[in-house]
Amino acid sequence: MRRIRSSRLNTLYNYKKHTRFIPQTLFNGKLRDLSSVSSDQPNLPPSSPQSIPIEQKFGTTTRLAGGIPDFVEKWNPTLFKQVGLGLGGASLLGWYLPYTYGLDHIFAPTAITSFTAFYLSVGYSDLNQTTHTLRRNFPFLCHLRYLFESIRPEIQQYFIESDSDSTPFSRSMRTQIYKRSKAQSDTRALGTMRNVYEEGYEWGVHSMFPVSHHDVRVRVTVGGKDCKQKYSASIFNISAMSYGALSSQAITSLNLGAKGGFFYHNTGEGGLSKFHLQGGDLVWNVGTGYFACGSTVNGKRVFNPDMFAENANREEVKMIEIKISQGAKPAHGGILPADKITDDISEARGLGEGPWTEDCASPPYHDAFSTPLGLCRFISTLRTLSNGKPIGFKLCVGSPTEFMALVHAMKETGVYPDFITVDGSEGGTGAAPPEFQDSMGMPMAEGLRLVHNTLIGAGVRDNVKLIAAGKVYNGFSLVRTLANGADICNAARAFMFSMGCIQALKCNQNTCPTGITTQDPRLNGGLDPGNKKVRVTNFHKATVDAAAEIIAAMGLKNPEEVTGEHLWKRENGIHVKSYDDMHTSYLPILQHNDLVEGRAPMNVQKWWKEGGELMKKMGEGE
Ligand SMILES: Cc1cc2nc3c(=O)[nH]c(=O)nc-3n(C[C@H](O)[C@H](O)[C@H](O)COP(=O)(O)O)c2cc1C
Ligand code: SF4
Repeated sequence: MRRIRSSRLNTLYNYKKHTRFIPQTLFNGKLRDLSSVSSDQPNLPPSSPQSIPIEQKFGTTTRLAGGIPDFVEKWNPTLFKQVGLGLGGASLLGWYLPYTYGLDHIFAPTAITSFTAFYLSVGYSDLNQTTHTLRRNFPFLCHLRYLFESIRPEIQQYFIESDSDSTPFSRSMRTQIYKRSKAQSDTRALGTMRNVYEEGYEWGVHSMFPVSHHDVRVRVTVGGKDCKQKYSASIFNISAMSYGALSSQAITSLNLGAKGGFFYHNTGEGGLSKFHLQGGDLVWNVGTGYFACGSTVNGKRVFNPDMFAENANREEVKMIEIKISQGAKPAHGGILPADKITDDISEARGLGEGPWTEDCASPPYHDAFSTPLGLCRFISTLRTLSNGKPIGFKLCVGSPTEFMALVHAMKETGVYPDFITVDGSEGGTGAAPPEFQDSMGMPMAEGLRLVHNTLIGAGVRDNVKLIAAGKVYNGFSLVRTLANGADICNAARAFMFSMGCIQALKCNQNTCPTGITTQDPRLNGGLDPGNKKVRVTNFHKATVDAAAEIIAAMGLKNPEEVTGEHLWKRENGIHVKSYDDMHTSYLPILQHNDLVEGRAPMNVQKWWKEGGELMKKMGEGE
């Protein structure tokens, strides 16, 4: 009986998903044979609507070929000329009206003649050019395709997508952030909209004996044994986004918002600007370009200890984060073209006086270190230069062996980072190649689990705090990340939404309509930091409160007590598992010193051994 019900649910669910999909494909100008879609979804029951031939569902559909609507496909240069002749004739005839009845009747012929002139000039320029085949083959009408193509995302967003559609953040995720940023009530009536029987559904494990959320600790102290200026951080903070990727108004809003809510604001790798120095706590993100702590020597960005010390010892800088990699483009650098460098950007990056003739590069690799042991030495150097502020590094996990080599290096040198930030491959960016965004790096859940358990297995988890970023946007996603091993969470895009980002996805084009990711004064001039800082603070508070309520409902007072046992997930059908029981062979839950004492599963133990060998082989580097 249960099986039948669940299969029906599945069918209904897939049908809903499927029917939502149709307008999108139509609009795209391509009607795919949807019976082929079912091959992507092997669990579909044979009677699913997805397997019904398309003609049966929609009657006789017109086939739209090559991304061009049918009526355009029938168009050709001869038809274009015939219509042109017709329009020309209509224009001439039209002038008969004012000629006969007076100037009161001039509007219609003027309109027809203007349109005819426009039609002919566009169409003939299409015919006479040789670059675009579409324009030569379908003069004038082909522009409809370009027009629709250009407004497709907006139509999709406003009219087609459902609350749970759209990526990277669905409308319902964004709506929750917008409401919380405006301090509006976001309670809902009548129960969940989610299909709780769908694969991947997750839920938190509450207790029969909950506690008051006022008793939940929402701050975590960062700083290991060698740290002289420990920092008490909120469990939720603003992730790295540089000045350059963001506008000065956005940076100011974030910093003032962080100041209002007593949480930190990560500078991003574009250096320290005056817009960062509004009084909010800062984590200084030091990337491979060493902005505000380096200079260009023979075309290479090189670390400069004096510049670093000067900025690291600023009151606002509470922690320093060496950026090794970021999830959206792991091990990929970036370039700020010379012509985009402004006085303010140069000041923030420490590039000296203009004119700037060379591009400002962030290479994929660091000049200051190139091996695990080298990184430990660099951590130690920064700790000394900053007079003992917490020093950590950020990475998106790639090779488990390399990460284990780094943990070997920590043990070998006795130099531990005060924190490690794990970024997931689902993370955001201002601009990155699609291959890197889509297909490189470990997702946050797996990366975090690997780092957390490696540190436990190596017996050093207590020395290091773990920070994680990857689509954290509400109380549940925050607690889920804690359950996976984090002590603290960062969010980048959620804070962009709190400032009004509408997910127009033009962050890389300098045309952001909300002024967040553009340096164009016409657009960013509309972003008022006085208003947005309040939204940033509101959003932070509502998210932390929601997380505290969930932790309290679990019967816990300390975020550290949240484990993988507090989170369950439907793997498929009736199979559900706690987080701790998932992926046990490759990403197992380890106990204190399991790796050191050889108790980990064989493949993980092998990584650990090879990590030790790699650390030795790579040595100190250059
Ligand atoms: C516009 C933008 C700029 C970013 N710039 C940086 C950066 O300078 N340094 C860095 O380490 N990460 C950078 N990131 C990555 C974020 O800090 C974060 O790790 C990632 O987006 C995942 O968090 P999210 O899912 O909350 O956005 C940037 C992200 C965005 C969206
Ligand atoms: S509104 Fe669009 S362009 Fe602006 S920050 Fe948001 S996604 Fe980027």
